[in-house]
Amino acid sequence: MSDAPEITPEAVAAATDAALAAIAAAADSAALKSARAAHVGDGSPLARLNARLRDVAPERKAEFGKLIGQARGRVTQALAAREAEIEAAELTARLEAEAIDITALPTRARVGARHPLTLLQEEISDVFVGMGWEVAEGPELEHEWFNFDALNFDVDHPARQMQDTFFVDPVERHLVMRTHTSPVQVRSMLDRELPVYVVCPGRVYRTDEFDATHLPVFSQVEGLVIDRGITMAHLKGTLDHFARVLFGPEAKTRLRTNYFPFTEPSAELDLWHPTFKGGARWIEWGGCGMVNPNVLRAAGIDPEEYSGFAFGMGIERTLMFRSDVKDMRDMAEGDVRFSEQFGMVV
Ligand code: PHE
Repeated sequence: MSDAPEITPEAVAAATDAALAAIAAAADSAALKSARAAHVGDGSPLARLNARLRDVAPERKAEFGKLIGQARGRVTQALAAREAEIEAAELTARLEAEAIDITALPTRARVGARHPLTLLQEEISDVFVGMGWEVAEGPELEHEWFNFDALNFDVDHPARQMQDTFFVDPVERHLVMRTHTSPVQVRSMLDRELPVYVVCPGRVYRTDEFDATHLPVFSQVEGLVIDRGITMAHLKGTLDHFARVLFGPEAKTRLRTNYFPFTEPSAELDLWHPTFKGGARWIEWGGCGMVNPNVLRAAGIDPEEYSGFAFGMGIERTLMFRSDVKDMRDMAEGDVRFSEQFGMVV
């Protein structure tokens, strides 16, 4: 340390000022680290002046010792204060940089799509709305009178058991989960002005198994026309048009005699198409017939003046053979991979 400067108040002040200036000028922890090394560490001007204390005459040792001690104290304090400031600023900057906006929507969220059953139901309604018909709705929790009595089912008519009904407690209230959309026929006749041209899509309930071709909750679409001079030819023409719009121009319909309490005559409706899975063939599609005069009377309509036709079919079944769906349960499970195949229509 022989080459170190002599201790003088000026030399101490100069070294102190230089140290304080360097500390104040340090903008980040790296700069502060070099300021510390240059002005506080071994070999720094103040450390070298300190080392010269041993050369100072004994009577002046206390004076110079105090001078240097105070200088080193000021520098150490300034260093600690600047260090705290820089640390706080760097922490704030880091928190800002790492901030996550929890209100932002994740970009990978996928847009949903409407269920193919809903789409088909709307497509079906559109076919009839296009002919000037109206869409009618009714409650799913239905009074037995609308579901059965007004539709000409006797109290102990075997047809009541034919449809496996969910009866709702308490039984004295005579409420059922509707087993078909036909109660909407009665509601439409009572609520609307004549003539009536309505299509009624909706959910229905039966105590069926949950398997590839049955769901205990499924959907049907009902059609009802009440007007003067309506004949079975109108029914057949309407069904042919409907089949061709849904399945293409080659589709054909066929009626086979059947029994429903609310239609007379009644028929099973079959559908033919050349490219059905399994080849060109007839498949059972729904039921239909001329509205039974007893049903017209129950709705206060004079069967001598008005006649009508009605038809009904399952929408799940229709989707099955229109889009070759093999298992109806896929329609109930709500897996987007199933819906995606029908296009992500929103
Ligand atoms: N409601 C009948 C059923 O669910 C279908 C049908 C509707 C039959 C209209 C004739 C007329 O089986």
